[in-house]
Amino acid sequence: MGSMKRKRPDEPEKSFFRSKFEWVRGPMLGSGGFGSVYLATVKKSKLGCEGFPTVMAVKTFSKSSELATESSYLTLFRDCPFIIGSYGTNLTIGDDGYLKCNVFLEYADGGTIGDLIEKSGGSGLCESDVSKYTKAILKGLEYIHERGYVHCDLKPDNILLVRSDSGFVPKIGDFGLAKMAMQKLSRQGTSMYFSPETVTHKIQEQPSDIWAVGCIVLGMLTGRQPWEAKGGADLRPLIASKLPNVPGWLSEDAKDFLRKCLLRDPFKRSTVAELLTHSFVTKPDRVGEVEPVKEVASVSSPEQGDYGSFIPLGSWSSEEAVDFGPIPPVAVLNPRPVIPSTACQGASNFAVMGAA
Ligand code: ADE
Repeated sequence: MGSMKRKRPDEPEKSFFRSKFEWVRGPMLGSGGFGSVYLATVKKSKLGCEGFPTVMAVKTFSKSSELATESSYLTLFRDCPFIIGSYGTNLTIGDDGYLKCNVFLEYADGGTIGDLIEKSGGSGLCESDVSKYTKAILKGLEYIHERGYVHCDLKPDNILLVRSDSGFVPKIGDFGLAKMAMQKLSRQGTSMYFSPETVTHKIQEQPSDIWAVGCIVLGMLTGRQPWEAKGGADLRPLIASKLPNVPGWLSEDAKDFLRKCLLRDPFKRSTVAELLTHSFVTKPDRVGEVEPVKEVASVSSPEQGDYGSFIPLGSWSSEEAVDFGPIPPVAVLNPRPVIPSTACQGASNFAVMGAA
């Protein structure tokens, strides 16, 4: 591939198939085991794409099965305002000559909750912001759990902050490890947000997500990680035998909320529905009502029925999905309209400093 002509930075990505828009890959926004995320700028919209944003994030995988996992979950959850939006998928050929599998995402220009915690320099965020963020995370998680799924990889870096008129709306992202409840783990990851039953018995069900919520809330309140990780040491023995330290100086509400998430017995942990009624997130003096973002336009995509690039979840598991059959001849966009920031008012009220 050495003889391949290098692409100019502003030259549109060459889509493997006829695409509904031309786009340019911008700077890398993040990377991990899942693949890499870049800024994507749409260069030329074609008819039918008027409702889509000109700036998106594009997550790029080298395996089509990983693209399939992520995009099928994002499609399934796309009506939830507290889950990162997705606009569709396409395939391109990279500079290295290899196939790149892309999923277009709502751009989270506020970074992540992980960035906010880091920026706090070990002080944590103020409790009223934590309370609002927690409510939004729980609403996103309720949407996932009510439909019978488990996220399996909740952590501060997977909670993205999307700008609205009055602050940033937290949205759950990264469904690379997600699974249907009661099904065996599709892929085993490692995370310091894993629950005791996950590290001891590889059991990861909805209560395991609740444990992770407890760890995230603790991190937001204290500015610290749930466990002190010394030089990449294996944390599993610690997670299996101890509880994260909940400081006594936290409010009674916060401590009670954390106690209900961080119970070693998964059967005793509160459910997401129960936590949504906890005074830590419902106190009216500090919590703006979190309303769903209203859709303001509806753009229909004539290809969707014919060429939908997403796999029906019922007939698929990521272990089997080495490839997902015939690739659609058109890069499909989901008709998920752009939501102008004014439409987010009810969903936000997050006057969050330092998120930009
Ligand atoms: N990192 C991962 N996903 C992202 C997104 N949707 N926007 C910005 N940065 C990201």
